[in-house]
Amino acid sequence: DGKYLVSLIEGDGIGPEISQSVKDIFSAAGAPIKWEPVDVTPQLRDGKTVIPQESIDSITRNYVALKGPLATPIGKGHVSLNLTLRRTFNLFANVRPCKSIQGYKTPYDGVDTVLIRENTEGEYSGIEHVVVDGVVQSIKLITRQASERVLRFAFQYAEDIGKPKVRAVHKATIMKMSDGLFLRTAREVAKDFPNVEFDSEVLDNSCLKMVTDPTPYNDKVLVMPNLYGDILSDMCAGLIGGLGLTPSGNIGDECSIFEAVHGSAPDIAGKGLANPTALLLSSIMMLQHMGLYEHANKIQSAIFAVLAEGKTITGDLGGKAKTHEYAEAVIKKL
Ligand code: IPM
Ligand code: MN
Repeated sequence: DGKYLVSLIEGDGIGPEISQSVKDIFSAAGAPIKWEPVDVTPQLRDGKTVIPQESIDSITRNYVALKGPLATPIGKGHVSLNLTLRRTFNLFANVRPCKSIQGYKTPYDGVDTVLIRENTEGEYSGIEHVVVDGVVQSIKLITRQASERVLRFAFQYAEDIGKPKVRAVHKATIMKMSDGLFLRTAREVAKDFPNVEFDSEVLDNSCLKMVTDPTPYNDKVLVMPNLYGDILSDMCAGLIGGLGLTPSGNIGDECSIFEAVHGSAPDIAGKGLANPTALLLSSIMMLQHMGLYEHANKIQSAIFAVLAEGKTITGDLGGKAKTHEYAEAVIKKL
């Protein structure tokens, strides 16, 4: 029927409500997407957390998935499902644009930067053990292969979106070997992209400078190892109003998963209070990734128009609208 199948992981807590907004807005916009619901409730197989095979098959078949929040256990239990998904599909680049929303005031105006986070290794390798009682070792794994892969992606991405400046963010001053390898690889990859300017910055300095004045980062794509990207992307989200407003895409060679980075907010789940913007903006990144630019632009303009008006916005943004009222306002703009 000329439609693209996309796997939909609605997620926990507020996941189903915000997914409903995406579905309603997409169908009102005539976006040629057919959703294939996918259940990723973990199964334990041979002591390992795995996701059901049908779900893996669905995502592999469809190449793209949209994902709501999945609850992550803290300090115990199974490996985070979010991480399992990234690993299962080798989603090596995590793209996190951070752009101020017109109409939503924060102390920072006109933020418009992009973070690209290595998404498969670093401190997220999950290699930890007790050496002796009271002494624990966690391995930070950095390989040239994974570094090069995400760096090449970042340079290409920078060229493609017309921000031909890449900055590697690192801590090679201290992590001389691991971050040193990442930084050396960045310098090597830079040679293959003569049209992209390259420089580097130490992470703590990036944080200081960004919260002081983020505008010098507007023409840049920042690329960094996994944990730094996790932390810095939350900080950047803070500059524009929080995780309710920032999209994210996990990109791999075989498939890609677009997701909201915020949590499942169990305290407000099922009450129709959740803000679906982050998942919506992620779904727009997904449309762009699929080459469906017209639908992406149309939906994006409608969302930005509603946010700019500031009348029908959810409680987290200072409004009184229910999730579905916000979605309906977006649909009216379409
Ligand atoms: C993120 C999240 C995840 C991470 C959690 C939920 C595993 O914080 O996507 O940034 O740490 O990567
Ligand atoms: Mn995070």
